[in-house]
Amino acid sequence: MAIIGNPKYADRIALHLSKYPDKRSAVMPLLYIAQEEYGWVNDDAVNEVAQIIEIDPTQVRSIAGFYTMYSEKPKGKYWLQVCTDLACALRGADEFHHELLHELHIEEGGTTEDGMFTAEHVMCLGACDRAPMLQCNFHMVEKPGGLTMDDMRLFIEKARSGDADLQALIAEWRNLVNEHLKTFE
Ligand code: FES
Repeated sequence: MAIIGNPKYADRIALHLSKYPDKRSAVMPLLYIAQEEYGWVNDDAVNEVAQIIEIDPTQVRSIAGFYTMYSEKPKGKYWLQVCTDLACALRGADEFHHELLHELHIEEGGTTEDGMFTAEHVMCLGACDRAPMLQCNFHMVEKPGGLTMDDMRLFIEKARSGDADLQALIAEWRNLVNEHLKTFE
């Protein structure tokens, strides 16, 4: 679809624009929204963001190209990012990352043939206490004690059976995390 005129994003776009005295400053959050809609920062995404903040598309593209959190290539429906930075590496993130690629039959940064999953490793995601840390479409996926490959096989199975099933699994794990955190109160 599009982000301009799309009721799904209208409030978020208005909110970001209201935060800054100069609307050009909203370029990065608007790029996130456009990436969410299109799955990557394609020409339509660039042009729409440029139109909203009234700058040249070339300027928007240069910002999108500079930051690694924006993708200039199509991604799978589920963009998986495994942190392999120090704290996660100490808890087996490298093995976890390699096993995940093996499970999905892809290379680093690749996308499965069915277009469902893209997987890559990234630097610290700021959740080192939950290592090995995984993000899916920029949302943390966490479980007490950290994710295992058995968890990931279940994650993949649920994603393939439908997004509602996957979201239910993620919510179930998040509840476990919350229960676990209460034991420290
Ligand atoms: S080192 Fe992995 S989240 Fe910080």
